[in-house]
Amino acid sequence: MYSSIPKGMTDLTLAIEKATNAVLTNKYNPFYYHGALPQFYLWVLFLSGLLLFAYYIPTIDNAYFSENLVNAWTSVDYITDTLPFGAVVRGIHRYAGDAMVITIVLHALRVWITDRYRQYRWTQWVTGIVLLLMVLFIGQTGYYLVWDERSLVLTRMTSSALEALPFVGPGLKAWFLNGAAITNLTLSNFLFIHIGLSFSLLFGLWLHYVRMTRPVITPPPAINYILVAVLLVFVFLLPITSGKMADINAQPTSFEIDWFFLWPYWLLAHMDTTMYWVLMIGGSVALCLVPFPSLYKAAHPVEAAEVVLNKCTGCSFCSKDCPYQAIEMVPAPAGSRFKLLATVKAYRCSGCGVCVGACAFDAIDLPNLLDTDVTAKIKALAETK
Ligand code: HEM
Ligand code: SF4
Ligand code: SF4
Repeated sequence: MYSSIPKGMTDLTLAIEKATNAVLTNKYNPFYYHGALPQFYLWVLFLSGLLLFAYYIPTIDNAYFSENLVNAWTSVDYITDTLPFGAVVRGIHRYAGDAMVITIVLHALRVWITDRYRQYRWTQWVTGIVLLLMVLFIGQTGYYLVWDERSLVLTRMTSSALEALPFVGPGLKAWFLNGAAITNLTLSNFLFIHIGLSFSLLFGLWLHYVRMTRPVITPPPAINYILVAVLLVFVFLLPITSGKMADINAQPTSFEIDWFFLWPYWLLAHMDTTMYWVLMIGGSVALCLVPFPSLYKAAHPVEAAEVVLNKCTGCSFCSKDCPYQAIEMVPAPAGSRFKLLATVKAYRCSGCGVCVGACAFDAIDLPNLLDTDVTAKIKALAETK
């Protein structure tokens, strides 16, 4: 069944999941909330980001050093050192971002290992990769906003890397810096990108969920409390600090890497720019293409479920149970004893057979798997246990 994935990996994952069930029960098993965990961190990021936004000032002025100097760096410094609970909110925002990356990667691994990414799930896979890339870029723009020496190095590295792109390079650089050089407008652009892209994640998530009838997007409250408690432990054990204030006349070169968001800069520093873009663009496209061979190699092409018109009572069970919103209940034709009739949207049907199991009236079949065959298979399986 899990043909494209080493069976040992699938077995190990399922064994760990089973062991976790024994300890935490399946209601609180985080394995069952693998997609809901990054979604939870997204809400935490929105809330903490909103609070930070209220005090953030997107300017780079540092022409003079006086007590009255107001710029991005000093506003972040104010949030961290003076504002009541400011350091906690900043820490939560930073660590929730790290946690979101970790949980997205674990979520992607989980759907890959359990073979839930191929065929009709390709839309979730592709939108998932795009979401991951967006999250990485949003995190990087967050690092620019602090406007310490690291922000300056990252900004310069990004604008040089963009400029090196053929044809679009100079335009992209001007868009990124919001002009020909780093100015106050650059930082307002970073803030706009950071917040604008964060909100567009919601549209990406809508695309990610639209083919699923009941995506699990919220962990139980007990898990949420634990997640927040773990974030707070990190906030207090490893408080977030800024580096030295950026000075655009200086040439800082080294900076501390955050391995969750800034690893592309490590690559950029260690390879030729062309090679970097080939790797980043090629890698992203290759990841998006992962589910596609299965669309062509499917041993049994998907054949949509079919309703047996004269048996359907319009009870709607199949429509409620279908995981892919492939069954619509429509008014039954005139003269029918029933009010509704199930109809299958073939383009949405995965051929999973859930509706066949849901129908108590033998009124829906898969063309290559009749209801009677399914029942016979289940009986045979039950007897071998
Ligand atoms: C912002 C990041 C992401 C969030 C918040 C997210 C959230 C979710 C949620 C809530 C589900 C439903 C899970 C369920 O009901 O069991 C889901 C399903 C899925 N996700 Fe993601 N996801 C994200 C990124 C990704 C990435 C990076 C990938 C892979 C490249 C991915 C691939 C999938 C697939 C294939 C499914 C369908 C799994 C199934 O039908 O069982 N997602 N996602
Ligand atoms: S086989 Fe049935 S339950 Fe599965 S997707 Fe198709 S209509 Fe929905
Ligand atoms: S479950 Fe069966 S009887 Fe009920 S609406 Fe669906 S096809 Fe018709």
